[in-house]
Order: sequence, then structure tokens, then C-alpha cells
Amino acid sequence: MSLYDPIARLYDAETRNYLDDLGFYLEMARRTGGPILDAMCGSGRLLIPLAEQGYAVTGCDLSPAMLALAQARAAAAGLAVTLVAGDLCRVSLPEQQFSLAFVAINSFMHLERTRDQLAALATLHRALQADGVLILDLLNPDPITIGQDDNRLLVDKTFTLDGQQVLKLVASSSDSASQISQMTYIYDVHSEHTPPRRFMIQFALRWVHRYELEHLLHRAGFALRAVYGSYDLDEYTSTSERLIALAVPQRG
Ligand SMILES: C[S@@+](CC[C@H](N)C(=O)[O-])C[C@H]1O[C@@H](n2cnc3c(N)ncnc32)[C@H](O)[C@@H]1O
Repeated sequence: MSLYDPIARLYDAETRNYLDDLGFYLEMARRTGGPILDAMCGSGRLLIPLAEQGYAVTGCDLSPAMLALAQARAAAAGLAVTLVAGDLCRVSLPEQQFSLAFVAINSFMHLERTRDQLAALATLHRALQADGVLILDLLNPDPITIGQDDNRLLVDKTFTLDGQQVLKLVASSSDSASQISQMTYIYDVHSEHTPPRRFMIQFALRWVHRYELEHLLHRAGFALRAVYGSYDLDEYTSTSERLIALAVPQRG
């Protein structure tokens, strides 16, 4: 079972209406055309609206449960999408196929080890057309905020799933030497007719700094073309919320 399988429906319900980055990907899709690769696509939060706009979209994810939700959403909307189950570090995808590939909202941070980051970038490099574009959207690591992480369980949000109230709690503890945050997500699901149920996942997120990212991309055969600090393409600064890299493959 993969990490997100037990919480797939909860993740989908909690993020389905998060659309802050959608305009950014629609603009990138408009500039590059398709086909598009949504790597670590989850339950299709971005994949579905991109397919609705007529783009040929392929999604890849490790979690069969997340992909099943994406497939169900596509089927319900009458959309044809291609979904590939597998680890981005070693999955086989069509080569030199995509004009745009992206790894949205912190998902690249699931890759804890440098060799996994490089393996995933190699997959993306093989999948992109010679004039394709890669987008990586990462949290901009803020040393002060990260230093305050003390593993206390805090209420993150509430939302509903099939009429049930869900309380999400999050704890994180971080270590700047390893650039790792250990995360705990707890979802308490309250329904009128059954006792409350608790779902929990724990995982590590590896932060990546701006010049580390440039070096990683270079080792994987990409050239960094732009770094943005927001989905509005603001300049990247030390206080930016996002660290968004736009890179292109270098061949030969
Ligand atoms: C935070 S979710 C993001 C999902 C989606 N991109 C979105 O924007 O809502 C991270 C996703 O990455 C997937 N994932 C984690 N590690 C992966 C890997 N090595 N290969 C492929 N998918 C992976 C998880 O299964 C999960 O669906």
C-alpha cells in the first residue's frame, strides 16, 4: 500500500477546491500546448481541469487509490486521460512525448534522497520533448519558520466528506542539517451514526534550496530558465511563499 492510499478520499475532499495554482498551469499549458505530464498527479486536482480545457493529459502517481479517484472524476466528466501507476523514480513513460511536465505543490519534496530526486528528474527528462518545459513547484524553505517546528499537534483545517465533518491535525518536526521535516497528518472523521474514526499518515518532506535545485536540475540535464516566488510569476525572494522552477532539457 502506498502512503496516500488510506487517506486518498480525505486528501481529495480537502484539496479539491484548492485552485490557487490552476491559473498558473493553464497559462503554462497555453504557452507550451500539449501533451502535458502531471507527475505525482494525485486525485487529479489539476489534471481534470487541464483535460477539461482540451489538453491531452497524462497523470502518473504511486498511489492506486489516488489514481482511482482521478479516473472516476475523468469518467464522470466524460474526459479521456491517461493514468500511469508507478514511482516517478523508475516508471516507464512515453519518451520525448510531452511539451509540458510538472510536479505540483511540494510533491517533489516526497523524494528524500538525492538519488531519488535525480532519478525522478531523469524520468521527466526522458518524457519531455526537446523543446519541452519542466515546472517544479516547491515550498520556499524559511529557516525561521522551520526552526520553530516542535512536533506539536495543531488544528490545520476542517472540511466535509460525504456529509461527515473532518478535523485535520498536523504536526511537524524539522531538522535543518538533513533538510527534512517529519510530518504527521491526522484526520478525525465524525459522523452522526458511527463512532469517530481516525486516519493517520506520517512521512518525510525534504526541502530543497534555490541553488541546490539549480545544481540538481543541471546534473539531470536541465537548464534553469526562471525562478518564480508565486503563481503570479513574482520574482523569487527570501520571503516568497513558493520556489517555482521553470527548466528546459539540454540535449547532447
Ligand atoms: C501532495 S500530493 C499532490 C497531488 C497532486 N499533484 C495535487 O496537486 O493535488 C502528493 C502525491 O505524490 C504522490 N507520490 C509521492 N511519491 C511519489 C513517487 N515517488 N512517484 C509517484 N508519485 C508519488 C503521492 O501518491 C501523492 O498522490
